[in-house]
Amino acid sequence: MNARADLNTAKPVNDTTARASETTLLDPRFYTTDFDELDRIDVTPVRAEWDKLIAQMKSDPNKSHFKKTEDWDTPDWDNMDPELKKELVDFLVSSLTAEFSGCVLYKEMKRRGNNPDICELFNYMARDEARHAGFINDALREAGIAVNLGFLTKAKKYTYFRPKFIYYATYLSEKIGYARYITIYRHLEANPQYMIHPIFKWFRQWCNDEFSHGEAFALLMKTDPKLTQSFVNKLWIRFFLVAVFSVMCVRDHARPAFHDALGIDIDWYDREVLRKTSEISRQVFPIEIDLDNPRWERGLVKLRAAMGDMAEAKSRGGLGGWIGKTAAGARAGLAFAGLYLIPVKKNAVPENPRLEPAY
Ligand SMILES: [Fe+2]
Ligand SMILES: [Fe+2]
Repeated sequence: MNARADLNTAKPVNDTTARASETTLLDPRFYTTDFDELDRIDVTPVRAEWDKLIAQMKSDPNKSHFKKTEDWDTPDWDNMDPELKKELVDFLVSSLTAEFSGCVLYKEMKRRGNNPDICELFNYMARDEARHAGFINDALREAGIAVNLGFLTKAKKYTYFRPKFIYYATYLSEKIGYARYITIYRHLEANPQYMIHPIFKWFRQWCNDEFSHGEAFALLMKTDPKLTQSFVNKLWIRFFLVAVFSVMCVRDHARPAFHDALGIDIDWYDREVLRKTSEISRQVFPIEIDLDNPRWERGLVKLRAAMGDMAEAKSRGGLGGWIGKTAAGARAGLAFAGLYLIPVKKNAVPENPRLEPAY
């Protein structure tokens, strides 16, 4: 195993830790925000629904879920097809980074806050994400490649987002996380011969945590109508919808061997996940992307090609590589703008946003 030096302690970190510490356009990010502004939220306008959700989180329905049982059959890492192994590890590391990113942000909010409602919520969400990240790391540990989470906390770059951008981005990543996990789970439930790793068996109850976290952000957005109804914020919501959705599609298409082994057609899977997320997001967003517009799929193909060329040019290096990367970057920007400009559909947002997981 290659090792890179840990800058702080000169201790070697393994490849998965180094991989998780990278922050490219496609990697899950770590966030920081204006915690004081977040702490000033008053949940009074959504009090009844808020208390119900918090009571549900407090009851901790998944308390004993994230433990290995006899259903956990250890995968044969040594004899796995190398391409599949690489992509499965990449999937696990990327999922771990996303889970841990939530944990870090939520824990920090809990630590810095004084608002009892906000602190209680973020405490429960940090608890859940720590379990999720820990469970994935146990799976990586079995393969001898656990991520050093302490190192990651220090080494990874943090992206600053204003609280409203945290709401849009985190709401969407929680709901898309739910949609991804439940879609994989239902597919494997119907096609158990493709169970390439036992962790997928845990996804059904797991995704309910993500669903609840998304509910919390929906309620937070409901505390202030401007957050979702003003002209400018609608443009921002549109931006986050396009960014979160398109990044997911580009990322998934980079793992053909993984999806093949799962018996999953990537285009079908992405369509399913986006349809579910889009349907759910009607609970709070006044607009949604027109996923049936042929320009959407065409734009995604262009974006994917441009991002692929960018990565290829970057690995080539030198002046030619730089020119190639710049040209492909411009094409990616244009493709993204094309996706953004597709006319959106309007939603009549319900008074009470609360939903239960239904897939
Ligand atoms: Fe999670
Ligand atoms: Fe979550």
